[in-house]
Amino acid sequence: MKLQKGAELMFDCFNRKIDYLRISVTDRCNLRCTYCMPAEGVVMMSHSEILSFDEIADVVRFGVKNGIRKVRITGGEPLVRKGIVNLVSMLAAIDGIEDLSMTTNGILLTQMAADLRKAGLQRVNISLDTMNPEKYAQITRIGNLTDVLSGIDAAIAARLKPIKLNCVVQHSSDEPDAVAVRKFAAEKDLEARFIHLMNLETGEFSQVEGGEGGHCSTCNRLRLTANGLLKPCLFSNLGYSVRELGIAEAFNLALKNKPKSGNSSQTHNFYNIGG
Ligand code: 5AD
Ligand code: SF4
Repeated sequence: MKLQKGAELMFDCFNRKIDYLRISVTDRCNLRCTYCMPAEGVVMMSHSEILSFDEIADVVRFGVKNGIRKVRITGGEPLVRKGIVNLVSMLAAIDGIEDLSMTTNGILLTQMAADLRKAGLQRVNISLDTMNPEKYAQITRIGNLTDVLSGIDAAIAARLKPIKLNCVVQHSSDEPDAVAVRKFAAEKDLEARFIHLMNLETGEFSQVEGGEGGHCSTCNRLRLTANGLLKPCLFSNLGYSVRELGIAEAFNLALKNKPKSGNSSQTHNFYNIGG
């Protein structure tokens, strides 16, 4: 682990350059995807646990000073966090971020895409697992496919680009739902990425087709949870509290302890770490 002062770059113990920070801004969501959340009994973080926008911006400023160049806002569903457009403005104002993006289920984009773009968001990844309305309602338990499709159109109109569609597949990207999403993406001139169903607890994970994650040897990311844990790896229980340790020490420990490769996580779920 080196915090190279002059060069302003971060390397971990395996000489991986860390330049990507994913920020979960809430563990809440307006959907209940079966592969992400249990139907009920989810204990949500309390308001006081959740980092304020100022705290998040402080973490990002420190990160960017030390080599972070890409920032992605995730959830839960980031668009259900109150005032999220303001957070986007605050982050967009930080000098040195080259790529500011968001992963969203798209449900609220119809109302918010234009404001997000104005605030400085560059692009979005939108979750879309199927083109079949019944299947969509089934996977998300409460979602309406037409809301996402209208959200996608709003994102296109707002020129949030490139837009990538995240499609979770059971076995392969040749299965009918994935084929339909690929076709839709081609028609709309969007990119599609196929994500194999993962299990954090058992450590079943694989690379994203069309994505850049999943290669431990070149992993460039850290994650910040909504309650302020800086996590070096999705598939590990490690996390360092920026509130308790201070931002610099949390980064220091996350870099120092970033595992060579991940195996499993019992402490986190997709809805509270943002995939
Ligand atoms: N397996 C794979 N991807 C998941 N996501 C959520 N839960 C899982 C899971 N169990 C990803 C999906 C979704 C994004 C928000 O998180 O890609 O689009
Ligand atoms: Fe919400 Fe995304 Fe999880 Fe679905 S996958 S429940 S949209 S956070």
